[in-house]
Amino acid sequence: MSVLICGGAGYIGSHNVRAFTQHGDDVIVVDNLETGHKASVPEGIKFYEGDIRNAEVLDRIFTENKIEAVIHFCAYSLVGESVDKPLKYFNNNVGGMITLLEAMQRHNVMRIIFSSTAATYGEPKRIPILETDPTEPTNPYGESKRIMEKMMNWVSRRYDIRYVSLRYFNVAGAWHDGTIGEDHRNETHLIPLILQVPLGKRDHVTIYGDDYPTKDGTCIRDYIHVEDLAKAHILALEYLRSGGESNIFNLGSGDGYSVMEMITAARKVTGHEIPAKIGERRPGDPARLVADSTKAHDILHWKPEIVSMEDIIATAWKWHQSHPNGYAD
Ligand code: UFG
Repeated sequence: MSVLICGGAGYIGSHNVRAFTQHGDDVIVVDNLETGHKASVPEGIKFYEGDIRNAEVLDRIFTENKIEAVIHFCAYSLVGESVDKPLKYFNNNVGGMITLLEAMQRHNVMRIIFSSTAATYGEPKRIPILETDPTEPTNPYGESKRIMEKMMNWVSRRYDIRYVSLRYFNVAGAWHDGTIGEDHRNETHLIPLILQVPLGKRDHVTIYGDDYPTKDGTCIRDYIHVEDLAKAHILALEYLRSGGESNIFNLGSGDGYSVMEMITAARKVTGHEIPAKIGERRPGDPARLVADSTKAHDILHWKPEIVSMEDIIATAWKWHQSHPNGYAD
């Protein structure tokens, strides 16, 4: 039996492909390569280039292979773009989930692990955030992921399909050997943008606002290493395999770090001064996002291991230094 990783050529998907393979699972990847990179998929992994919104692609995969579970990463994920192009997000994210669940039902595939997000909560009512807190997304990206969770919930009540939805906080870092990492054509994330300065690609990093009600005025986020995140997916599948009910878990470290602290950590890791300028606030950024991941600790027995910001940034730095142009190198 195989594990189908949808979106396995993307940043988080590709790290899961490695982690599941190392764990001993037989992995199959489907990716339309719109934002993913074929070069990230290791030799020897069965790869289908195709869009999961295409039922024929899924029927072919589910017919040609014995799929035990689906790990679902296919989605657009840029908050700002989603506000500008909401239908693009609903079409791809929600549309992909519909065809995927339909195909799973047709082919009797009963387990799905889903890549959800802190953006399902919107502006948090309290910190740290619990899974039971209100979900009021403030952008179409978060809304699309919340709708996808709700769809899985209704489907799981009607059929035998069981799901685990993992709500990630700020995913960062790269595989420890530096062979795969983050490569977005349109980079918006803090750590890759900071590291573009020592790479010589930009002369400074802009801090989006220093007037937030936080210790140094810059936004606080809960950063988790992408390998720790991948381990949570393996544990989530083990949980379903051992009969666990459909469930939702936050994945974060429980510690918050400010933008300023991340820049300071990156300066230490790279030995570069990394000039920073204060800019305007970015619309829609909450001041603080920190997860309460007690539930994942208690039920999945998951615990992040790479918890120092310098260690997380060091893995990203190893990847970017050896691949300054991403997979184009
Ligand atoms: N930031 C800067 N300068 C930059 C880039 C980012 O100051 O050049 C700040 C942002 O304002 C934010 C923090 O760095 O305070 C982190 O920003 P990212 O864009 O790296 O990440 P976000 O917290 O905005 O996004 C993350 C996930 C999204 C998810 C969102 C939930 O990447 O998928 O949390 O709000 F939707």
